[in-house]
Amino acid sequence: MIKKISFTVALGLASLGALSGQKCILTGLWRNELGSKMQIQEVKGDGTFSGEYKTAVSLARRPIQPASLNGSQHFDEAGQPTFGFTVNWKSFSDSTTVFTGQCFVDENGKEILETMWLLREKAKAPNGWEATRVGTNVFTRIKGQNVDESLRGDGAR
Ligand SMILES: *[C@@H]1O[C@H](CO)[C@@H](O)[C@H](O)[C@H]1NC(C)=O
Repeated sequence: MIKKISFTVALGLASLGALSGQKCILTGLWRNELGSKMQIQEVKGDGTFSGEYKTAVSLARRPIQPASLNGSQHFDEAGQPTFGFTVNWKSFSDSTTVFTGQCFVDENGKEILETMWLLREKAKAPNGWEATRVGTNVFTRIKGQNVDESLRGDGAR
C-alpha cells in the first residue's frame, strides 16, 4: 500500500517535471500586474540573459525610457527554477533595481514569475533611510517561449 502510494507520488512528480521542464526558460515577453513589460532575449547555455525592461511606473522626473536588464537563471531538471536580474535605469534615472524570483507552472501549464525587488535611489549621503524601496511583482508571459519554441544558447531543450 505504502509502496503503491509512493510510486504514484513519484510518477506525479516525474510528470510535473516533464511538464515544467520544458517551460520556465525566461526568453520572451512578460508583463506584470502594473503593466510593466520586459523582453528577455535568448537565455545562454550558462543561464545568463539580457533584455529590456519597460516600466509602467516611475518617480523619476525624466520621462520613462526602456532600461536594460541583465540576469541569470537556473536550468533545473525538476522545473520551477529561480533567477535574478538587475535593471539599470540610466536611460532616465540614476536608480538601480535588482529582482529575484522563481518561475512556477500551474496545472494548466501557465507560467508565472513570482518576484521580489529592491530599488536603490541615489541618496545624497550614506545611511539615507529613504534610499531603498522594496516590492513584489508577478509576471505572466505575453508571447515567446513555449514548449515548441525553446531557446537556449546550447541548443538544449
Ligand atoms: C546587458 O544587457 C544589455 C541590454 O540587453 C546588453 O547590451 C549588454 O551586453 C548586457 N551586458 C552583459 C554583461 O551581459
